[in-house]
Amino acid sequence: MTHSTHARITGTGSFAPPRRMTNADLESLVDTTDQWIRERTGIRERRIADGSISCSDMAAAAARNAMEMAHCAPEDVDLLVDATVTADFPLPSNGCLVQEKLGLVNAVAFDVVAACTGFIAGLAIARGFIETGMYRKVVVIGSERLSSLTNWGDRTTCVLFGDAAGAVVLEPSDNGSGILSTFMKSDGRMAEWLQVRVGGTRHPHTRDFAWDGSDKIAMRGTDVFKVAVKEMGNACLKVIEQAGVKPEDVSWVVPHQANMRIIEALAKRLGVAPGKVIINVDRYGNTSSASVPLALDEANRAGRINPGDLVLMTAFGGGLIWGAALARW
Ligand code: ACO
Repeated sequence: MTHSTHARITGTGSFAPPRRMTNADLESLVDTTDQWIRERTGIRERRIADGSISCSDMAAAAARNAMEMAHCAPEDVDLLVDATVTADFPLPSNGCLVQEKLGLVNAVAFDVVAACTGFIAGLAIARGFIETGMYRKVVVIGSERLSSLTNWGDRTTCVLFGDAAGAVVLEPSDNGSGILSTFMKSDGRMAEWLQVRVGGTRHPHTRDFAWDGSDKIAMRGTDVFKVAVKEMGNACLKVIEQAGVKPEDVSWVVPHQANMRIIEALAKRLGVAPGKVIINVDRYGNTSSASVPLALDEANRAGRINPGDLVLMTAFGGGLIWGAALARW
């Protein structure tokens, strides 16, 4: 039997800064409790990068780990895609900074801005380039320093986010393994539901900016929650159908780690047993584009994912934008 070329994940890697911020730590910052945070989100702690660790540092560390696993030499990488909404600078891209840090002298590097769905977008891009034969070795990273965009005085958001990076290496495969299907969709009518209003070119930071939190993340959490459950479920069912398999064939679901209740509702909608869902939201919180590759790497390194397994990845974020990818390991 002959197979067409697929983009196969040959290495995974991740990095989380060492500093832990527990729910108890947050109790001393805002009017909240460990019990509320655990019951409403499932989060117990998150990692926060100190001033010496930038978003591109975390991205480079995660990519280095993934390249090591894939036995991928820096000069062999053709393309690097870094998904992030918290790049070190407005210009140049984080991708180019990571390229320099890792010595990817033969690659082209750029960023993707798709909030928490950024890593899925990166996978879809890598898949396209590999399937057309344009590139052979692609690094996709999700890296976020969300603590820089967090309003530490807003209890409705500051308990949710954390810093981290995750990465994969993708290469062509002709044996039926690799990414079988991807799906993405956005709806800009809900752009204001999750946004950082000040700090871009529309509303730049001015010298007389009186701080009111508008240069940090603001979210209509309950509304986002409802769309997240619905659309991540739809996206998952789409990629399952496109690949010609059934929900019960899925070996592992690696969902965006935003909220335990969203993850549980998604598993229920798909009819997937809770034991097949990879969860680390309790230890990292919502790390946006880093969330899926971080969870994927932890599960992979723990030996949970085996050759032949069907791995379903899905995410949802500000835009609003959502998507899913299904891979045969
Ligand atoms: N501690 C204590 N009480 C709190 C806290 C807190 N940290 N935060 C909110 N509350 C209060 C509210 O003020 C409200 O009080 P009230 O009833 O007196 O008005 C009550 O708790 C309930 O608040 P809700 O916002 O209705 O709580 P909900 O159950 O919706 O949970 C949450 C909030 C956790 C934010 C949830 O809506 C959620 O997870 N939303 C989705 C987030 C998400 O998935 N984002 C997507 C990607 S993020 C990105 O793109 C960067």
